[in-house]
Amino acid sequence: MSIEVVTTDEAFGKVECDALLVGCSPGDGSLSLNAAGTEVDDAFDGYLMDQLHAQGFKGKVGDFFLMPTFDRVTAYAVGVVGTGEPTKDRSNIRRAAAVAARKLSNQAVIATALHDDDASGQASIEGLLLGNYRFGKYKQSSPKRSLERVIACGVNAQSAERARIHAEAASLARDLINEPADVLTPDAFARRAQAIADETGLECNIWDVDELEARGCGGILGVGKGSENAPKLIVLHYEPAGSTSKVALVGKGVTFDSGGLSLKPFQSMEEMKTDMAGGAAVIAAMSVLGKLGIKTQVTAYIPAVENMPSGSAIKPGDVITHYGGRTVEVVNTDAEGRLILADALAIACEEKPAAVIDVATLTGTIIVALGHKATGLFATDDALADDVLAASEAAGERMWRMPIYDDYKSNLDSMVADMKNSGTRYGGAINAAVFLKESVDPSVPWVHLDIAGTGRADSDRDEISRGGTGVATRTLLRWLQGRER
Ligand code: BES
Ligand code: MN
Ligand code: ZN
Repeated sequence: MSIEVVTTDEAFGKVECDALLVGCSPGDGSLSLNAAGTEVDDAFDGYLMDQLHAQGFKGKVGDFFLMPTFDRVTAYAVGVVGTGEPTKDRSNIRRAAAVAARKLSNQAVIATALHDDDASGQASIEGLLLGNYRFGKYKQSSPKRSLERVIACGVNAQSAERARIHAEAASLARDLINEPADVLTPDAFARRAQAIADETGLECNIWDVDELEARGCGGILGVGKGSENAPKLIVLHYEPAGSTSKVALVGKGVTFDSGGLSLKPFQSMEEMKTDMAGGAAVIAAMSVLGKLGIKTQVTAYIPAVENMPSGSAIKPGDVITHYGGRTVEVVNTDAEGRLILADALAIACEEKPAAVIDVATLTGTIIVALGHKATGLFATDDALADDVLAASEAAGERMWRMPIYDDYKSNLDSMVADMKNSGTRYGGAINAAVFLKESVDPSVPWVHLDIAGTGRADSDRDEISRGGTGVATRTLLRWLQGRER
């Protein structure tokens, strides 16, 4: 269902398409059409503006007005999209384009001219493609007509291509997240990663139970042992010619989180096929590094497990030994993400990467703290934190820095092991970060993204679609691109 993206420098009135999108902001007390909108309005001798006023159009993000063109311009219809007050990060443009994509979901060719420069052009392409996303795999009926081509007016070809690739990666992450857990088992997840690696020229190694045992990955094995579906560690490696620096990514890949013996109530379990959203974002980002011409070496580690209760499941009170020798008393089998990430982070740090970033649907507490519209960012390094925050702003993926207070470690004191895996409910997202930090080499700058609140959405909102959101995919890509400037 790949959508073609092309660019054009043709006059707005001459672009052949089903609908031409133009922008309109609230302006000074009245409405203000952007350059393309003004050109179309001129072709209509001011009738478009008259109509907007008559319809009570306000220019807010989400406002949309579609008008047939009766051959005054080449496009069949012109869609006026409210773009709100301009924002530095272009998020309004991305949001507005996504709204338009949903309104025009049965149009095959959409030309976008609702932006005013290259960066906002990129945002508008991302918005169109992300807003158009649907997970239709298990639906009996599919739409008769849908988006086939985006024509981006006045956007340079490289920017347009980048936007397309970013949206393609986020859509791949969404596809992986939306897949039911009985289909996407740890083994299936690993095989999908292998197939993606084969197609995109990545190296891929899958550690099975034997290998995990040989290497002492007690966290991944401990969480995985309650399930019929054996755990795996997916390792992907991207090594471009002439690379000078290397970084590592880690993604939580719990393909289903029942809670284990510390079983979740059914309401909390409903969405838990999405507990591999961090792993999906990391794999999706890895899949386009070559296409984007990233010059940094990147290694990704995705521990893939199913957290289930059974006769062979890990029990509260059991002690596991992580990769590298750290021991942990598992007091709550539902705090499983940190157990598998502790192994993966320790492994990732051995290569001494310039930075390591993990992405995980880690704690319900981060949702209490930040709600569903911001990812929690924890960092041991201010410069890295600032870089990732800047990338997230450019991507339109809101993130908020949270503290890692070392004295919270006492919340995790264990009588029998180096630490226990869960402590007080209050400040739970911080406790989790404090727990993870113990597995990170202090010489390696580290960022942890807790996407429990943002990895999934209950309804369509702007460029976010209901279900898996693919959050962090585009931030990781912008961050990697930004490091090379
Ligand atoms: N996967 C969950 C976190 C989660 C909650 C993700 C809601 C998405 C939406 C995680 O494994 C978990 O169960 N965390 C527990 C930790 C607690 C037992 C210390 C939580 O947050 O309740
Ligand atoms: Mn859990
Ligand atoms: Zn979980």
